[in-house]
Amino acid sequence: MSRPLIIAIDGPSGAGKSTLGRRLARELGLLYIDTGAMYRAVALAAAAAGVGVSDADGVAEVARRASIRLEGDPDSLRVLLDGRDVSEEIRGEGVGNAASVVSAIPAVRREMVRRQREMGAQGGVVLDGRDIGTVVFPSADVKFFLTALPEERARRRFDEERAKAREQSFQETLADINERDRRDSTRDDSPLRIANDAVVIDTTELPIEGVFGRMLQVIRERQGLL
Ligand code: DC
Repeated sequence: MSRPLIIAIDGPSGAGKSTLGRRLARELGLLYIDTGAMYRAVALAAAAAGVGVSDADGVAEVARRASIRLEGDPDSLRVLLDGRDVSEEIRGEGVGNAASVVSAIPAVRREMVRRQREMGAQGGVVLDGRDIGTVVFPSADVKFFLTALPEERARRRFDEERAKAREQSFQETLADINERDRRDSTRDDSPLRIANDAVVIDTTELPIEGVFGRMLQVIRERQGLL
């Protein structure tokens, strides 16, 4: 009998982390934890409380008080902020940008990392984020770092947004992705970086099926060793 796995998936936005994280969780019967959704919920809670993203102490206080729950199956995960379903609201481009700013506040990260460790402590989880393999669970059983060229990540985001009839040009989407990459990779506290023992997969030219198969293979091999 193998013990409950902890699988970490890190990488920049639009690399396919959430699609693949959900699929892996479903395939392996694990809990899927979308840690980006937690930072997005903090950004939304701060806006609702009238606290600006540059007010680090204010946002940290909001983060400590907020109840953030992730409920449901990997495919139909709901995000509840103080009991209210904000699953759709947190996906807006504005919330994403605000999340990128509030996630650079050390006290906010401390609070979210503490909660994420609690949620994953029993194992049997797939966590997707930026610092899972480096900070949240440095001893995770399997670590992936998914990446793709910015143009390809912007194209994916652009197609998703267009499907929702949101108006943004490709150039604007690309500029957003580049700006988010810059913020997530250059912040002082837990910047996005590749863990030494992560399996790096570039998804630029690999179809999702191919990436999924490769990840599953790595997990199966690792399970054989556990
Ligand atoms: O993955 P996402 O786009 O939903 O994440 C929203 C923001 O939160 C993103 O700019 C990076 C940040 N984030 C983080 O700093 N650490 C995590 N573990 C997850 C997300």
